[in-house]
Amino acid sequence: MNITIKHGFPEQQKSGCVILGVFERRKLSPAAEKMDRACAGQLSRVLKSGDMDGKAGESLMLHRLDGSACERILLVGCGKQKDFDDGVYRKALKTANTALLKSGARDAFSFLTELDVAEHRSGWKIRQAAELVEHSLYRADQLKSEKDDAPALRKITFAIASARELKEAKQGLAIGQAIAGGSALARELGNLPANICTPTYLAAQAGKLGKQSGKMKVRALGQKQMETLGMGALLSVAKGSRQPPRLIEMNYQGGKKTDKPIVLVGKGITFDSGGISIKPSAAMDEMKYDMCGAAGVIGAMAAISELKLPLNVIALVPSCENLPDGAASKPGDIVTSMSGQTIEVLNTDAEGRLILCDALTYSEKFNPKTVIDVATLTGACVIALGKHACGMLSNDDKLADALLDAGKDSGDRAWRMPLWDDYQEQLKSNFADMANIGGREAGTITAACFLSRFTKKFKWAHLDIAGVAWEGGANKGATGRPVALLTQYLLNQCGKNYKLT
Ligand code: BES
Ligand code: MN
Ligand code: ZN
Repeated sequence: MNITIKHGFPEQQKSGCVILGVFERRKLSPAAEKMDRACAGQLSRVLKSGDMDGKAGESLMLHRLDGSACERILLVGCGKQKDFDDGVYRKALKTANTALLKSGARDAFSFLTELDVAEHRSGWKIRQAAELVEHSLYRADQLKSEKDDAPALRKITFAIASARELKEAKQGLAIGQAIAGGSALARELGNLPANICTPTYLAAQAGKLGKQSGKMKVRALGQKQMETLGMGALLSVAKGSRQPPRLIEMNYQGGKKTDKPIVLVGKGITFDSGGISIKPSAAMDEMKYDMCGAAGVIGAMAAISELKLPLNVIALVPSCENLPDGAASKPGDIVTSMSGQTIEVLNTDAEGRLILCDALTYSEKFNPKTVIDVATLTGACVIALGKHACGMLSNDDKLADALLDAGKDSGDRAWRMPLWDDYQEQLKSNFADMANIGGREAGTITAACFLSRFTKKFKWAHLDIAGVAWEGGANKGATGRPVALLTQYLLNQCGKNYKLT
């Protein structure tokens, strides 16, 4: 999408669609008021007739009003002005995108970015607008012979209240577009079926990204190298599949040689049948999404390399399939992880933690500043938090706060859960150092407790994205989360020049 930024008057825009905000009840935003004056009060009259109140989520498309230079005017509800915050702003942008893409407009000029949103300046506002319009254009039709109807929209301009804001607005645009690009990549990888998106395929896509970026080296370890390293936990999951496992390593060097790297670890189970502890068949197809942690960290790597962030970041993606087979792990099997700790595999469906624990131990070799793992780890997290926030657990309060902040800044929120020692008891095994499951209670926490036994040597946070990475039902599809959260966290590590306000 062609996105530009301009200062201008709404009534003068020769655009396919001018987008204007309306607050409850029927209160025109400053830009809408200008338009109303130019159109001899036609907007006020339409609102008075009762067609729109200004509630968030409402929209009204008007055609060819005398006095305006545009083909259409799209009025977008913004709710009560005193409640207009980050969340309602994003909702208004989404509502505008839906109505705009349904129309035949080839270009649009949006004045929503001129609205006052809490304490934010235009950099943040444009960043959100750019990200959301790109997000709305994504179609999962790569494998359809007849493509879904492509919207007519080719170009959108976002308004700034004064030309002085151009520089910060452009920075916001660049960040929004980079995040949108990373999140589109994550969605694409997530939506691909498991017969195409295999561990080998993921490694090839990561390699392609490395070639496009000047600053990223990519390699992938295979089974032999994992055996040499002693990754018995990872290998025990891969055993039941004919697809060879991979440990993908993406090394982005944007900082000084001496800067310690931030390591991102993404769960890359390209299909999770549960293994011998097989899952019920209803909605099992959705377990192709069990590599969305991997997709999220690969997407974030794409975004930061496009933005050329001055940081060193390493992404590690342990990847394999979890299938039942004569060679698969059986409940009760005991495996030795790379750390030397032994694990009793009481349930082969708790496989994510088994591949992650070896990747986490492997990350020690990079002497990391921090390690963040991202995984569709537990169904319990979907029950606890639903689709609005991912679960976050950490052994470091500062890191946890930084992730919560990044979630608020980006609108891709996380919520912290406790990692108290009291929960560790649930992982007790009679035959090994630990079991891989902790019983029915607090499933998200005991999964994180398991991982915490492999992260003692560094600052670490775990993001359980099981509830946010994809949507089921009629709108089935990957969301691209948590690319925005991760990229925001990394941006925030770069100092104030990269902080959008
Ligand atoms: N990939 C699943 C978690 C999952 C399930 C995410 C449903 C989203 C929706 C994970 O590998 C898994 O199967 N976890 C088990 C753990 C249990 C056996 C302790 C779960 O959550 O049921
Ligand atoms: Mn599983
Ligand atoms: Zn899984």
